Amino acid sequence: MNRARCDETAAWRQLQERFRTHGAAFDLRQAFAGDAGRFARFGQQAPHVFADLSKNLVDAGIEDLLLALARETGVEAYRDAMFAGERINHTENRAVKHWLLRAPRDAADPDSVAVHETLDAMLAFAEGVRADAQITDVVNIGIGGSDLGPQMVVAALEASNRTGKRFHFVSNIDGHELDAVLQRLRPEGTLFLVASKTFTTLETMTNARSARAWFGQQGGRDVARHFAALTTNVEAAREFGITTTFGFWDWVGGRYSLWSAIGLPIAIAIGAEGFRELLAGAHAMDTHFRTEPLARNLPVRLGLLDVWYRDFHGFGSRSIAPYHGALRRLPAYLQQLEMESNGKSVDAQGRPVGFGTSPVLWGEPGTNGQHAYFQMLHQGTDRVPVEFIAVKQPSHALPGHHDLLLANALAQAQALMQGKADPGGHRNFAGNRPSTFFLLDALTPAALGALVALYEHRVFTSGAVWGIDSFDQWGVELGKVLATDLAKRLASGDVQGLDASTAGLVQRLRGR
Ligand code: F6P
Repeated sequence: MNRARCDETAAWRQLQERFRTHGAAFDLRQAFAGDAGRFARFGQQAPHVFADLSKNLVDAGIEDLLLALARETGVEAYRDAMFAGERINHTENRAVKHWLLRAPRDAADPDSVAVHETLDAMLAFAEGVRADAQITDVVNIGIGGSDLGPQMVVAALEASNRTGKRFHFVSNIDGHELDAVLQRLRPEGTLFLVASKTFTTLETMTNARSARAWFGQQGGRDVARHFAALTTNVEAAREFGITTTFGFWDWVGGRYSLWSAIGLPIAIAIGAEGFRELLAGAHAMDTHFRTEPLARNLPVRLGLLDVWYRDFHGFGSRSIAPYHGALRRLPAYLQQLEMESNGKSVDAQGRPVGFGTSPVLWGEPGTNGQHAYFQMLHQGTDRVPVEFIAVKQPSHALPGHHDLLLANALAQAQALMQGKADPGGHRNFAGNRPSTFFLLDALTPAALGALVALYEHRVFTSGAVWGIDSFDQWGVELGKVLATDLAKRLASGDVQGLDASTAGLVQRLRGR
């Protein structure tokens, strides 16, 4: 597909000019003063998610140019190619079809039958586990997309988990992590889920082997009952000795896989009905992304804002501030989604890009962040766009708390924008610091599904404008190869050919 390179388009040049003449000096307070309709123009209801974009450094003119940039770089055609099942992940020659996992049965798509057969089987299994009082602990062994998605969602929907079962997520190769979990388990009460798209990942295979050894040492016998594998590589799982397997397909990227068999811990936690609601919420957002005109297409508007901030304002990071404790793993989940997808520096043709791509994402739930790093957000030398995520209805009944929580989210966004003049200096807040405010009615499976899909498509949009492959992750490979070599060197002490720093550290570590 021929896509114009963003920095060679007319819209890019016009945006540069706009930034030079208006953008750098853009003042949010003046923008509100000059436009009574600003909240309506930049507020948008999408499925399950309301977004207030009005506290961002854009006006209608800038947004029109950003929309022109999307058109010139072929965002719509590229989106349609994804939904048509074309192999848009060109460096791996793969289609990108995670959206199919949450679509209703579709006779026209040859993969839809297998998707729904697997979904039905996995949900039946999940219901069986839920009903099985002997299983008290579910341990997910996986890393990256095989950990962060299910872990984030199980935590986010903890109010919907009435199974009484405990969920554990073991990802790190650091044995402290698995050891601490094993200490609390009984083999007859435990279900291990070995989650790995490839079933080759060093961390996961090491943890899975140790878990299986522990199970045998503790007198566990029935591996078929106590281990299941979630993988595209069912054969490798069988060779490993796991016969209960749920598969998925190479067109599901690891960081887009929570909707697949990788979501089994979620299904056990919230039940089949809850899991189907999660999928339905994401599907509603898919339909929005697919059909809404660009100017009212929330993921597109957000993705374009990300380009505006990264490449014109030069903002290098974005802070995620969920004002809901159950969303505590959302920042980590979004780090992989956005930084592994868009942390690229060559375009589709392999040419170096001459502009910034993925920003750094980081954050913690509010109000904790306020008492840690919000100082820097208000008065530091860098401007960092902040993303507030608030939920109208709490899922607890403690009086007073929720209004105070919401008031704090509103106050931070207001303070960032308005600032406060203090000619004396130290108490001066410059203000004019941008933020986006997302609002969900309640933290239901459907709302969470829609929110995650919104972020997926937003990342798609900025990646499409930048002309990069958002679906590969070659940057993680070099470290994996070097670690294999260094594990051997740590054992043998051979430091020949190593740089002096690594050699020195290997020698020190061998002295332990
Ligand atoms: O190393 C990065 C990565 O490939 C991620 O993209 C992926 O989510 C993670 O490792 C885990 O991979 P797997 O599911 O194959 O074990």
